Amino acid sequence: MKTYQIAVIPGDGIGPEVIREGLKVVQKAAEKNNFKLETKTFSFGGDRYLKTGETLPESAIAELRKFHAIYLGAIGHPDVKPGILERGILLNLRFTFDQYINLRPVRLYDNVETPIKNKSPKDIDYIVVRENTGGLYTGEGSFQKQGTPDEVATQLMIYSRKQVERCVRYAFELLKHRHAKNPWQGLSKEEREQGFIGKLTLCGKTNVLTYVYDLWQRVVNEVAKEYPNIKTDYVHVDAMCIYMIESPERFNVIVTGNMFGDIITDLAAVTQGGMGVAASGNINPQGVSMFESVHGSAPQFTGKNVVNPIACIAAGKMMLDHLGETKAANEIEDAMKTVIKKMKSMLVGQMGYSTSEIGDMVVKAL
Ligand code: IPM
Ligand code: MN
Repeated sequence: MKTYQIAVIPGDGIGPEVIREGLKVVQKAAEKNNFKLETKTFSFGGDRYLKTGETLPESAIAELRKFHAIYLGAIGHPDVKPGILERGILLNLRFTFDQYINLRPVRLYDNVETPIKNKSPKDIDYIVVRENTGGLYTGEGSFQKQGTPDEVATQLMIYSRKQVERCVRYAFELLKHRHAKNPWQGLSKEEREQGFIGKLTLCGKTNVLTYVYDLWQRVVNEVAKEYPNIKTDYVHVDAMCIYMIESPERFNVIVTGNMFGDIITDLAAVTQGGMGVAASGNINPQGVSMFESVHGSAPQFTGKNVVNPIACIAAGKMMLDHLGETKAANEIEDAMKTVIKKMKSMLVGQMGYSTSEIGDMVVKAL
């Protein structure tokens, strides 16, 4: 029987609660589809850091390398200074395993309430390809004259052409695959008639970040020549915040740098029903990828069995998809849709069911 080794990092706060439900679901899907998921749990997170001073030891990295995928709950602890766990664990994993794509599907399911008036599931169905290893996240910068009135702090947005190009290429290829499922998403009638199959939108800030996003724009233009049936578009990140609300139907695949991708996907998550639904994959197409919810550890809800596990379940679905278990992944999505129809809301404490009940319902629907 085909067997996959999955490293599970439940993490902090509500992480363990949502991961528990996610595991129930992916295990059921595996059983149904005749493959095996062998899991090993790793205790990285705030509690371990507070006890041992360790975020992610070198030995752990060597061990994680042997797994087919990593399934992550959430990282973030109220007693740990901001930045330590984020850099030490989450970003460390993304960078070490060169997970250069952060894939964030934005999809409004039936029966999910969106705060955007007059928009329905057919309008909100796109995916953000967030570059995941560079930009402002590189960690380059400095303080000068720290603590004095003349202090200057810098944080550099750094991109190499190679980093940009591999990300842009991934986005173009993704569009080809998406066309099979959502033909012509994001295109106007005229654009369809011109023979385009989909649209790739670069989100940048070429009017101010005249080096970094100039590079991105040039790379998009160059790679686009290899994909004559894909329409390319450009939107400044500030205008993006308007269009994502006003006319989300104009998007199919959005590609952008790390920082903008971080920000616009929180906005996008709200339009798809909130942080209870949004999932993501940190992808290295040739290496170890990691799947997680977009939401954080929400420590105030820990242990209450009230948060929505759908985002984590959806991340599990993405993981199986990535492993090549497309049928199992599609079945999870169908089961999720069935359960979502029964839920009163996607919001914490208002779902009409507890965290574990939702997990059980998805398993039953499977
Ligand atoms: C995310 C998170 C992380 C990020 C933080 C926790 C470092 O906000 O996954 O979007 O900024 O990438
Ligand atoms: Mn974020």
